[in-house]
Amino acid sequence: MRFTHGFTWATGLCLSLSGITRAAQLSSNAQQMLDESMNFMDLIYDADIGYLHYFYYPLAAGTHETRSSAWYAAGLLQRNQNDDAEQGIKILRNIIGSQHKDPTTEWYGDYQYYPEEPTVGTDAYPPAPYGSFDPNWRNFIGTALILIYEEFQSLLPNDLQQLIIESVYNSTVGDTYRLGGLTYGNLNPGYTNPSTMRSIQASWIGRKLNNANLTAFGENWAAQVIELFDRNLTLSEFNSATYTGVTLYALTMWDKYLPPDSIMKQNGARMIKDTWLSLAETYHPAMKNLAGPWDRSYGYDMNQYFSLLALYLWTLLGKENAPVYDKSWSMAHADDLEYAPLMAILASHHDALVPTEVIEHLTTFRGEHTYVTSAYAPPGDAVPRNITSWVSDNLTIGAMSFLDAPGVMDHSQQWNAAVVQWLRFDNSVGFFTLAAGDQHAMDVEVGPNFLNLTYPHGNSTSTFEFILATNPWGATRDIPSLDNVSGVDIQVIGGSVNATPVVSFCGLAGGACSPRFNFEFWNYTWTMPEDSTSLPSVSFEITAT
Ligand SMILES: *[C@@H]1O[C@H](CO)[C@@H](O)[C@H](O)[C@H]1NC(C)=O
Ligand SMILES: *[C@@H]1O[C@H](CO)[C@@H](O)[C@H](O)[C@H]1NC(C)=O
Ligand SMILES: *[C@@H]1O[C@H](CO)[C@@H](O)[C@H](O)[C@H]1NC(C)=O
Ligand SMILES: *[C@@H]1O[C@H](CO)[C@@H](O)[C@H](O)[C@H]1NC(C)=O
Ligand SMILES: *[C@@H]1O[C@H](CO)[C@@H](O)[C@H](O)[C@H]1NC(C)=O
Ligand SMILES: *[C@@H]1O[C@H](CO)[C@@H](O)[C@H](O)[C@H]1NC(C)=O
Ligand SMILES: *[C@@H]1O[C@H](CO)[C@@H](O)[C@H](O)[C@H]1NC(C)=O
Ligand SMILES: *[C@@H]1O[C@H](CO)[C@@H](O)[C@H](O)[C@H]1NC(C)=O
Ligand SMILES: *[C@@H]1O[C@H](CO)[C@@H](O)[C@H](O)[C@H]1NC(C)=O
Repeated sequence: MRFTHGFTWATGLCLSLSGITRAAQLSSNAQQMLDESMNFMDLIYDADIGYLHYFYYPLAAGTHETRSSAWYAAGLLQRNQNDDAEQGIKILRNIIGSQHKDPTTEWYGDYQYYPEEPTVGTDAYPPAPYGSFDPNWRNFIGTALILIYEEFQSLLPNDLQQLIIESVYNSTVGDTYRLGGLTYGNLNPGYTNPSTMRSIQASWIGRKLNNANLTAFGENWAAQVIELFDRNLTLSEFNSATYTGVTLYALTMWDKYLPPDSIMKQNGARMIKDTWLSLAETYHPAMKNLAGPWDRSYGYDMNQYFSLLALYLWTLLGKENAPVYDKSWSMAHADDLEYAPLMAILASHHDALVPTEVIEHLTTFRGEHTYVTSAYAPPGDAVPRNITSWVSDNLTIGAMSFLDAPGVMDHSQQWNAAVVQWLRFDNSVGFFTLAAGDQHAMDVEVGPNFLNLTYPHGNSTSTFEFILATNPWGATRDIPSLDNVSGVDIQVIGGSVNATPVVSFCGLAGGACSPRFNFEFWNYTWTMPEDSTSLPSVSFEITAT
């Protein structure tokens, strides 16, 4: 039976211990999202080999990719038409077959980036976390395997079911090798997206195999994540259009796949609710963007780059209200569309946990408001970050004070500690955001129409370097001065900086510097007077025009 009353049922009545198994029930929004992502991935699937082609920018000739193949396999099992299940099984065998198998190596139990890669740990391909192996992929792929096992067990041959358990076990044991502290490749509870995934992975496999050590490892890890969250009901990895999406995926699995005696089952649903209450403070439905600040971002306008949060907004609000192009695969960072099958499969469980008032705020602008909160990710953060977002009709200003924050040190290009966005005459969104420089500390003041920034440890060599959006179609192309910015009036009204900024263009085809995340921009950099002994500071008055 297919497409009955908006629900899709798997064909083939397979018997399992619990009786007849069917695919997850999908709402029409989730079904549309699944179909659109699968139609795209079908085009880049290599059935001869059983992997998806690599789809990061810049495109690579000839290679494949492991993680997106795992996500596609979940989609194939959910769709389960023609030879979908057979292909899904082939992919899973490939991924597990090539999983790193030597328990004496740091990358044990991790998964390859891609099947053609040289052997990690050889002279020509030395081990490097986030280089030749990504320690987080144990959790990305490990949790995807858990989801596949939970949802589609009856479609999998017995030996593959056992292989999945073995694979998740190895991946979890390898995951326990990761150090905390500030070493590279580290994992701390405040690194929220892998933390929330690792917690369920270890607890789930520990329970499956009666390995109390691993269960305790997962439960204890989750307890530390929850403690950080409960400080101010915010994720340590705060307000990220991409990584909050990963965390919501993991928290949904906390609630869906763990039993009542798990601390994750006891807290997952309320953390999803509170995370959405926080997102509803910064999300602007007319701009379809989160107001800043953003701990980690892969762009400056969610309508232009594919964020994982867009997948949730798609199932909750409908595609037309989500920040996605009609042809969603043609956006910047479109590889995140490959994650869609997992979000679609979990959508009915997740979406039921989102409060009605949140849906209202995501749909209709709630009116001008100021959100004051705090987030904390020790040991990277020396002290909690203090966050203020002022959100109004056509303009948002958000910034955070920080001292030695992990984002500014480890993910500096993604780190946006002071962000201004505005709605322009054509309904597009302008942005003006501080690029992380060499400053490890900043103090901020944010309120209606103003943004004040100070570097408490800066000196006369410090700069305030801003990424400014290009103007929309129909407005002046050149922006030699702030007078020429479309839709907003930005004035420097104080501070110790030189009043006149250094202006350059970071273009796709030319200019003084390169685009970031494929966004080209105007670079407005304020410097200090050469002999200044003042703390570096700048104050802006900003109004929508
Ligand atoms: C798991 O690790 C062991 C070594 O500890 C290895 O022999 C085995 O092949 C691995 N299993 C998988 C599925 O990779
Ligand atoms: C659990 O941890 C204890 C103490 O570290 C160790 O002795 C024991 O072998 C572990 N058990 C398993 C099943 O890994
Ligand atoms: C965040 O939590 C801390 C500790 O409970 C509290 O002192 C602080 O006032 C809270 N901050 C905000 C902005 O709610
Ligand atoms: C916001 O923009 C709309 C449409 O351009 C305009 O009508 C409205 O007056 C603006 N509101 C503010 C507060 O500037
Ligand atoms: C944030 O505010 C708290 C007091 O609530 C303070 O202890 C902390 O130092 C502040 N953080 C920064 C980065 O200024
Ligand atoms: C100014 O700050 C920079 C980087 O923060 C530092 O490298 C430099 O030594 C400082 N200069 C003085 C004179 O303190
Ligand atoms: C920039 O704005 C100034 C002041 O309005 C104007 O004189 C100048 O022509 C504008 N330049 C461009 C390139 O639009
Ligand atoms: C922001 O800076 C302006 C100009 O320097 C100043 O007048 C104002 O008092 C500052 N606001 C806050 C809240 O610090
Ligand atoms: C912006 O321009 C400054 C020079 O004025 C340069 O040092 C900096 O790297 C540029 N920023 C970016 C993000 O390209």
